[in-house]
Amino acid sequence: MIFKQLFDKASCTFTYLLADFDSKETLFIDPVDNHIDDYLALLEQYNLKLKYSFETHVHADHITASGLLRQTTGAKTGIGLHCRAGTADYQLEGDETFNLGSSTIKTIATPGHTAGSMSFLWKDKLFTGDTLFIGGCGRTDFQNGNAGDLFDSVTKKIFTLPGETLVYPGHDYKGNFVSCVYQEKTSNPRLSGKTRDEFIEIMDKLNLPVPKLINEAVPANLYCGIDEEEALQIADSSEFSQSNKDRRGVQGVINQAKQQVKQVDLATAKKMIQADDVIILDVREKNEFELGFIENAIHIPRGEIKTTVESLIPANSKDKSILIYCASGNRSALAGQIMQDLGFSNVTSLVGGYNAWKKDY
Ligand SMILES: [Fe+2]
Repeated sequence: MIFKQLFDKASCTFTYLLADFDSKETLFIDPVDNHIDDYLALLEQYNLKLKYSFETHVHADHITASGLLRQTTGAKTGIGLHCRAGTADYQLEGDETFNLGSSTIKTIATPGHTAGSMSFLWKDKLFTGDTLFIGGCGRTDFQNGNAGDLFDSVTKKIFTLPGETLVYPGHDYKGNFVSCVYQEKTSNPRLSGKTRDEFIEIMDKLNLPVPKLINEAVPANLYCGIDEEEALQIADSSEFSQSNKDRRGVQGVINQAKQQVKQVDLATAKKMIQADDVIILDVREKNEFELGFIENAIHIPRGEIKTTVESLIPANSKDKSILIYCASGNRSALAGQIMQDLGFSNVTSLVGGYNAWKKDY
């Protein structure tokens, strides 16, 4: 196996890379968007195949890189059903199993910090997100959190695992990296030896400030960090950029894609279509496509291009003109980059996307 514990200093978030040594199949847990380049470099360094990118919950303090990873590698995203992040590929309910080569990841529903919080068990390692920290636990006062549920999740599901099970939390603010079930059961000041009512009282009295990024991060993460125009618009807003100067994440990747992929305006796109020598590719999600599309467009959601394009666009069309559109022109630029990587030499992205097209008709 290959196992990495990565750390985002800005939000004190741990991200985990889990990989099966033989098959190279890999899972990220809780990736952070402005580290996307590091993640891609790691995958390349160890020649890994990213199969999944899962979230322990919808985060309020950082934006996930899951959507970007899906876009770049074709990895499937997963998150708790009750997080209501509808664009994730897997809506997890607990007790599911996923394979990385011959090893298995088990999902455990651990509501409390948020209603949709999940923990993941892989071999002797448990990834607890914000359900259980080393010597603490996540807050329960927003996102449908519930202190009683958190107490039940920890005492009935986590503390019943073998004591030597290693506990890898979603955050640590004190320089700790790993603990184990026995250690938390016997010494976690919030939970060890406490009754349910005592725990609820402790949580009720915390009076924590609202996380700085909550208004930006939560809506964006509901779309896997990037998978909807809404998330991109949030990332575009000047308020967001100012609050997060160093972010190379969403906006940086999009800007780079726009430089690399030829951008065409609506008038040019129409001429291309009229000349009838263009393949039109719609890269929006299924629910958006179903509400309307440009006639004759081939539909491949951006996250599925790598795995699907060969079956829908013949290999002998690699030098043919391909006009890509999404809702507003961000995802299509990213998709254009993927198409170029796949060897399509003549791709263009429609500025303003389907929104501009629709306005004109
Ligand atoms: Fe959280």
